[in-house]
Amino acid sequence: MSLVVFPFKVEKPEVVVNNIHMAASHERVSEVLCVGVEEEETYAAIAAAAPHVMAETDTPVNLILQDRLGSLRPGKGDGMNTALKYFLEKTDVDRVHFYDSDITSFNQGWITTAEEFADLGYDVVRHYFPRAATDAMITWFITRVGFAVLWPYSELPWIEQPLGGELLLTRKTTENLVADPLVMAQSDWGVDTIYTFRMIQGGAKMFEAYVKEGKAHKLYGRLTDLRTMLVECFAAIQSLKDEKVDGSTLHRVQPPDVVPSAISEKLGYDIEASMSLLTERWTDRQAELLELFPVPIRDGMIANRQRPRFGFMDEAAWFETYCVLLSHFEKDDEDWREIIFKLWIIRVLNYTTTAAARGYAYGMRYLRSMVERYLRQAALGK
Ligand code: LAC
Repeated sequence: MSLVVFPFKVEKPEVVVNNIHMAASHERVSEVLCVGVEEEETYAAIAAAAPHVMAETDTPVNLILQDRLGSLRPGKGDGMNTALKYFLEKTDVDRVHFYDSDITSFNQGWITTAEEFADLGYDVVRHYFPRAATDAMITWFITRVGFAVLWPYSELPWIEQPLGGELLLTRKTTENLVADPLVMAQSDWGVDTIYTFRMIQGGAKMFEAYVKEGKAHKLYGRLTDLRTMLVECFAAIQSLKDEKVDGSTLHRVQPPDVVPSAISEKLGYDIEASMSLLTERWTDRQAELLELFPVPIRDGMIANRQRPRFGFMDEAAWFETYCVLLSHFEKDDEDWREIIFKLWIIRVLNYTTTAAARGYAYGMRYLRSMVERYLRQAALGK
């Protein structure tokens, strides 16, 4: 039997309650746990609905607030780690599932698929989804690039959606994570990166299951939300850069299927709003820090003080940029946070106008082959 966890912040209560109900009625689920950040309206709505769901499904639905466990910004990591500890300390079931609470395409099949692959002996089952060619821009340009550059011989760069929040873990894998001080310290958006990294480094057998209907959920509000996520996801990779990972993990991926046009035709982000950020918030110190980068990159960046420019940030320039960031980036320095945000927007705009503009199939082919080229460049030095 399994525990199903829904971490939540401020969500549409009817979406969350519907998902809780579906999970609670699944035959493999012995308990549903909702982990909130504070006692606001979503929390109150779940508290009010939980007794009804319990009465209808005969499955306990518990609601808790996340503990302060980590040492970084209190965020998603504290929520997930609170749930892992609850799973070990308060239940005796074998598996825990996580699902984002705001998913409107969630159904019981997601739980069934994860359970069946876990029955085959995998320690971790991750769901992955078709995403627009201009979506998942942190995944592609920060996480998968970082994995390719730093651990080219490992399975890490081959993981489809290393930041995904939909996954199943066995008790053994959870025990390893909870016993790990680095994991428990990661209270911010970097938690997914650290989980994924430690699973592969620790030799967990991983299966990635394809969910063809995709993950429909609320959009990221402002680009500044993504800025925090970007900084924290990069800083998580940077904090791991001296770690070693061998290539012996078992990792299998269910092949993808036809991509619904609602996904392939979607725009992943607001191009005009992103461009307008490039000329803003400059400081002279940012210009000084840019001296650390190769001259064409520095000059290209400085030109953005006057007007948006992104033609210079091609695949090769991003490799060099990424390596400078790994050595010099400082997560708590406001000028560095602004620099990495601008560099990343510039890379995303370059990719959008040179690859994604040629269509969904071309864009996705480009992203996959880019990761492969980077890992060969990192491994073979060419
Ligand atoms: C990503 C986030 C932004 O995967 O959804 O890049």
